[in-house]
Amino acid sequence: MKWKNRHDFYYRKAKSEGYRSRAAFKLKQIIEKFKVIKEGDVVVDLGAAPGGWLQVAREKVGEKGFVLGVDIAEIRKLPWRNVKTIKFDITDPNIVKEIQKMLPRRADVLLSDLSPKVTGIWELDHARQIFLSEKALEIALKILREGGNVVIKVFQGEMMQEFMEKMKVNFRKTRLFKPPASRKSSAEIYAIGFSLRREHHRSC
Ligand SMILES: C[S@@+](CC[C@H](N)C(=O)[O-])C[C@H]1O[C@@H](n2cnc3c(N)ncnc32)[C@H](O)[C@@H]1O
Repeated sequence: MKWKNRHDFYYRKAKSEGYRSRAAFKLKQIIEKFKVIKEGDVVVDLGAAPGGWLQVAREKVGEKGFVLGVDIAEIRKLPWRNVKTIKFDITDPNIVKEIQKMLPRRADVLLSDLSPKVTGIWELDHARQIFLSEKALEIALKILREGGNVVIKVFQGEMMQEFMEKMKVNFRKTRLFKPPASRKSSAEIYAIGFSLRREHHRSC
């Protein structure tokens, strides 16, 4: 399996194109299909280490936008002045304040590729991952502007439906999408929420 990973198409493509992770292509494919990030946007990326999504988000927002990456792990510095990172646990009660301190204004887009350390015990991994997705959604509801978008990774399983119901209450349109760069063997899929309704805002 390790051998396969190292020689996989997107792994090699990431190496040759200078991306920090093969995950970068998942976000690229999501953006290509759904146009959830625009030039000049303020983007917050949860679970951002090692930084592949940060690189892709920066390409999209350009010089006038702003990108903030959050991870419990250290993120090696990126070479742009408008990409900042913080080392923080997204389950910490102070997370919203910490993020807001860093942002120039309300965010246009929240991204989450959060994954727990997988144990191989399916029910446990699913439950832990959905817990992180719910936290990401809670944070989104507090930091996004009216009309903002989210892309949140979820592990498919019995708790996903309830998560999607919460998405539907808060966004005008929602989609589930598995980009080609996501391994078929992986349970991950991406929940996309278009246009936050702040007036109908319901906490999770
Ligand atoms: C799949 S990786 C993200 C890859 C990233 N999108 C990229 O392109 O490089 C998932 C990340 O979630 C982070 N994570 C897991 N639980 C977290 C938590 N409670 N707070 C912050 N980050 C967390 C992990 O440290 C890990 O770096």
